[in-house]
Amino acid sequence: MTESLNTGIQQRVLALRSIFSSNQAYRKFEDRFGYLLERRRAEIAAGVIAEARCVALIGASGSGKTTAARHLITTLPEVVSNDLETGRMDVASLSVPTPATLKFVGQTTLAALGFPLRREKTAQTIWDMVKDHLAARQTLFLHYDEAQDLSRHQTPKELNSVVSTLKSLMQHPVWPVGLILTGTEELKTIINHDSQLARRVFPVEFPQLNPLLDTDRVIHLLNHYTERAGMSGSDDVATAEFAARLIHAADREFGLLIELAISALEEAMRSDAEKLEIVHFTQMFRKRSGCIDGLNPFVAADFERIDCRRLLDRGGET
Ligand SMILES: Nc1ncnc2c1ncn2[C@@H]1O[C@H](COP(=O)(O)OP(=O)(O)OP(=O)(O)O)[C@@H](O)[C@H]1O
Ligand SMILES: [Mg+2]
Repeated sequence: MTESLNTGIQQRVLALRSIFSSNQAYRKFEDRFGYLLERRRAEIAAGVIAEARCVALIGASGSGKTTAARHLITTLPEVVSNDLETGRMDVASLSVPTPATLKFVGQTTLAALGFPLRREKTAQTIWDMVKDHLAARQTLFLHYDEAQDLSRHQTPKELNSVVSTLKSLMQHPVWPVGLILTGTEELKTIINHDSQLARRVFPVEFPQLNPLLDTDRVIHLLNHYTERAGMSGSDDVATAEFAARLIHAADREFGLLIELAISALEEAMRSDAEKLEIVHFTQMFRKRSGCIDGLNPFVAADFERIDCRRLLDRGGET
């Protein structure tokens, strides 16, 4: 394959990756966040100081949490992400660092606000600085991705101190800040660990795809990506059975399904095909997992017994 052809394919694939596909859970997340944002803005305009709230987006790995949060923060027209002149940062976003000690989470939050620490300081001082900088940057929401890590390798005492610090941000007497927490199922343990926190959280879950109920949606989604790739799909990839195989291959996760569909389209582009066929999915899965056809959900008769997640994870390691 010539270099220019290769570059052309890469550009087409990048264009597909930049598409954001909405779904019901995303709309709920967006609605809730929009509501809290408006409420906070109205309070600021009226000079009222009220406790802020938290939205938690919970879903399995590959469901699309990070993508959803990034899309929400960067595309809402009224959200200023980082104004260089005024220093305004409506939403500060970061991943929970490891180890998630009070001090390290504070230090990483400070860095996300644009103030990396140069000298060693106590956790208390660091969080006082975080609160000052949140007010200085007029930050309305703080987003922690991988928020389930807040409880990983943590002593109960450390977890308590992190949770009470997060609560204290929402209850700050001068500049309360709302939270967006995105994470896997374990995030629920953290939220439920503290009833005061639980009461302030609005949870949104990314449900898994259902191989019986979601086939039409998946066929529609695949069609959309195929069209955007400038191709058409063969009749074989527009069946409920094929959709069920694709859902299974993606371990029922929405984001992972889109990722696999784009990889199959890339495979079709590389073989210079005009139509997207099942064989492109078969080849894509073979390459990603390195497994034999008996373990390939696009070929095997009894595909439901295959643990696709394990195969894909293992393939990704090599
Ligand atoms: N709404 C979406 N539209 C298009 N592609 C998406 C969407 N959501 C997720 N994806 C794709 O799915 C893949 C996984 O998504 P993402 O990384 O957001 O999942 P996650 O839930 O954060 O997983 P993890 O828990 O492992 O961090 C990414 O390649 C992303 O591009
Ligand atoms: Mg993620």
